[in-house]
Amino acid sequence: MKRSKIAGIGSYLPERIVTNEELTKVMDTTDEWIQERTGIQTRRYGVKHKETTSSMGAKAARVACERAGISPNDIDFIIFATLSPDYYFPGCGVLMQRELGITGKEAGALDIRNQCSGFVYGLSIADQFVKTGMYKNVLVVGSEMHSMGLDFSTRGRNVTVIFGDGAGAVVVQPTDDPDQGILTTKLHSDGTYAEKLSFVNPGAHGGYHQERIGDTTDLGYPPADTYGEIFITQKMKDEGMLYPNMEGQFVFKLAIQKFPEVIQEALKEAGLQTTDINMLIPHQANLRISQMVQRLLGLRDDQVWNNIQRYGNTTAASVPIALCEAWEAGKIQKGDLVCLAAFGSGFTWGSALIRW
Ligand code: UT7
Repeated sequence: MKRSKIAGIGSYLPERIVTNEELTKVMDTTDEWIQERTGIQTRRYGVKHKETTSSMGAKAARVACERAGISPNDIDFIIFATLSPDYYFPGCGVLMQRELGITGKEAGALDIRNQCSGFVYGLSIADQFVKTGMYKNVLVVGSEMHSMGLDFSTRGRNVTVIFGDGAGAVVVQPTDDPDQGILTTKLHSDGTYAEKLSFVNPGAHGGYHQERIGDTTDLGYPPADTYGEIFITQKMKDEGMLYPNMEGQFVFKLAIQKFPEVIQEALKEAGLQTTDINMLIPHQANLRISQMVQRLLGLRDDQVWNNIQRYGNTTAASVPIALCEAWEAGKIQKGDLVCLAAFGSGFTWGSALIRW
């Protein structure tokens, strides 16, 4: 079986820089609180109604294709990871396909709804497709336009201050070089605590899961024999239930356990150790999480790339954006061992080891 490699990488960050100070004007928060708890100083927001998750993904994808030396029309398969899709359906994969002008060859497109681990999952799927010879040019994109769906009142401050917009993309191709490519990927999930970090409304659940987990919140659904208002109820609109929510400390504690676990798992399978890692690209969830993971693994500062200070948490886009930035900065050289790792809502988590 062939190996697969990352042949090209690109990213796109919208121009508008939003400081913590700016957020203090709309909600009860402070620059000090945000920096101390998360490390975030600024984040980017896309231009409302002019940019979307798929349009930003297309911009990152164009750069990745160019660097891989191909045209978007050479892409055989698209994998698009996001939690902030343009539409409920169809997915961003086909919208980006249209935006990129990929026509005529009917390339396949798959959307991944795996939140923070979406890109690592997508890379793993691309790896399987390329290794087995099914596809030659797989485009994997992570993109988020969070700013369109956040609660900018004080009620949503624990979530809203964290997130930012942006996109990253890679082209995955086969390689004959035995010393290069994706060595292994590890993927995991556990749905027990699905609602601890979630965006449940609007949805077609009708309160089903809430009843099972003992959540007695009245979502305002009409009687079961009435149709209409199945996705969004008036109560949800009136009481601000149409936003993401997170039990931050619960997520934090699990994250610092699962990140090191899944990194060690990949290293063990590849017969490698933490000392072999040249660059760890952790999902940029919170700078405090990355620092703790670094400490737990005994890594030096130069072995870990963090950019959450400037871009906030861009969920599915954070790993490819950070990977692209580290590579552009010349911190990833041919032959280096690069480790990607992510943890987030679901909960889902995963890692990838790449010999660059
Ligand atoms: O990317 C997906 C995975 N996500 C994560 O991994 C995120 C994991 N969790 C976290 O990063 C942290 O839990 C947060 C940054 C979200 C929150 O930090 P925390 O230190 O866990 O704060 P907390 O939620 O325990 O809240 C502490 C206090 C509360 O006030 P009281 O009840 O002590 O009076 C909050 O209301 O901080 C308050 N608070 C804020 N204050 C100012 C929450 N958000 C804010 C805010 N500004 N933005």
